[in-house]
Amino acid sequence: MLSTHVAVRAPRARAHATRGRVHARVPAARRPRAVVTRASDATDDEIEFLEKALKLAKSRKGASGGGASASAGAGSYNGASFNVKTFNAISPVGLGKFPPGKYAVSGDDGALPGDPMAIMLRSHKLQVSEVGPTVRGIVRCGAGTNNIPTKEMSERGIPVFNTPGANANAVKELVVCSLLLASRGILEGNRHVNEVINVEENGDYAKISSRIEKDKAMFGGMEIEGKTLGVIGLGAIGSRVVNAALGLGMKVVGYDPVLSLEAAWRLPGDKMSRADDLDELFEKSDYITIHVPYIKGVTHHLIDARALSKCKPGVHLLNFARGEIIDGSAVRAAYDSGKLTGKYVSDFSDPDLMGHPRHIVLPHLGASTEEAEENSAAMAAETMMDFLETGTIRNSVNFPTTILPPHKNSSGARLCIVNKNEAGALGEITTFLGTQGCNILQQINTSRDGIAYTVIDLEKIPADPAALQDALAKTCPMVVSSRFIGSVFNDELGSPGTYFWVRDATGSA
Ligand SMILES: NC(=O)c1ccc[n+]([C@@H]2O[C@H](COP(=O)([O-])OP(=O)(O)OC[C@H]3O[C@@H](n4cnc5c(N)ncnc54)[C@H](O)[C@@H]3O)[C@@H](O)[C@H]2O)c1
Repeated sequence: MLSTHVAVRAPRARAHATRGRVHARVPAARRPRAVVTRASDATDDEIEFLEKALKLAKSRKGASGGGASASAGAGSYNGASFNVKTFNAISPVGLGKFPPGKYAVSGDDGALPGDPMAIMLRSHKLQVSEVGPTVRGIVRCGAGTNNIPTKEMSERGIPVFNTPGANANAVKELVVCSLLLASRGILEGNRHVNEVINVEENGDYAKISSRIEKDKAMFGGMEIEGKTLGVIGLGAIGSRVVNAALGLGMKVVGYDPVLSLEAAWRLPGDKMSRADDLDELFEKSDYITIHVPYIKGVTHHLIDARALSKCKPGVHLLNFARGEIIDGSAVRAAYDSGKLTGKYVSDFSDPDLMGHPRHIVLPHLGASTEEAEENSAAMAAETMMDFLETGTIRNSVNFPTTILPPHKNSSGARLCIVNKNEAGALGEITTFLGTQGCNILQQINTSRDGIAYTVIDLEKIPADPAALQDALAKTCPMVVSSRFIGSVFNDELGSPGTYFWVRDATGSA
């Protein structure tokens, strides 16, 4: 439950940068609190734990319905707010997830009561200079994060989050539509009615209607039932496409050599077949749809001249992943030589194919539904709140997934440390805490590339958390940033803006 007697920083005034560090402090003296749970009575402990969890869940649920504007409707929370700076218009459904009062959310720095601790955006191309030293996390409402300088954020110890799968249904529905756009002369027929028949018959409806009947022979198509769809990439979108295609009576062959366990659970088992390599998929498919990320050197031109030579001549290509995954010049050459007769449907344009009659190019519409924007914004808000309040990292593109459930005896403090992923770092950190008399109740240490992330639940709140952070940084040069958040059930130390330490870009502590 939120503490109502939290001594909070005066917004802006106390979050100061010193020698490149941001170290915001709670001025009031704190005393370590005793661990109140009786370890001897397991049943009572469990009941107490569950009651606290229920109370917390209820307070979150109660708060989630309100607006997100700065300091509106403070409810039971009297502390300072977590400040979230937005770029782009974010769906109100997402903004409404932020409990009023506890969070201040605005696109205008001046409207926030303090420095931003989080950034939430959609397509804004974020500059490094727009990320102030108080920012702990950045979340994109959407899947791609190439508008965020992720490498620089990793160096500064800032996790970048996205919302994978939140727009998957929207893309799936457009793929289903595109199967039909490829198989039937829908767009061509519509264009013919509007631009040829209507013009040539000069608005004479009797002639128009008879010509519509007569000319239908020009636009005959094929049914998709019984045909084989090759799905490259079986993640959030691919797995939905698989299930939809099976529902439409198609056969499905999938390819995904790096399938996650979570994604594997979403697949319909033996109702589809798996290709061992791409060539097998190319050879079997009447339609191919691509749902892999664009990775330079890996998925760049995944469909090229060689791949096309393995495909059936009439194959239809669907690309709602990224334009660069298909080599447009190879597709053009295959059209020109008559080796490819199927259509290429995409919501990405290609300079070699613009205007080609077999290329159906749409605006970048895959995720453009109200529901997808709402889902993405809601997921982004929940991901960020989880990170700010509990240190949990999920759906990050540069940090490892890290989830440390609350310790049931937890009334101490949770310390989240970002450090360089180098040998000996964890040992240094835990040894240092031991020398300071800090008992570790539980911890998790994860790493990804050059970054390691450690979440530690201490039995007691240290007498001077800020001094401890300073000393930790001096003793352990691999520490990039540290952040105290309160125990999950009493977030005194998590009071926004307090006890956040970050090393400056030059590495000095
Ligand atoms: N058109 C749009 O508007 C739109 C909207 C959302 C996403 N997308 C694109 O769709 C892509 C897929 O989205 P998602 O939500 O399904 O992502 P996802 O991460 O859930 O799934 C991607 C899948 O691709 C697989 N994969 C990776 N490399 C591969 C390879 N070389 N060969 C085969 N499989 C490989 C992964 O294992 C994963 O299962 C995104 O990367 C994005 O570029 C486009």
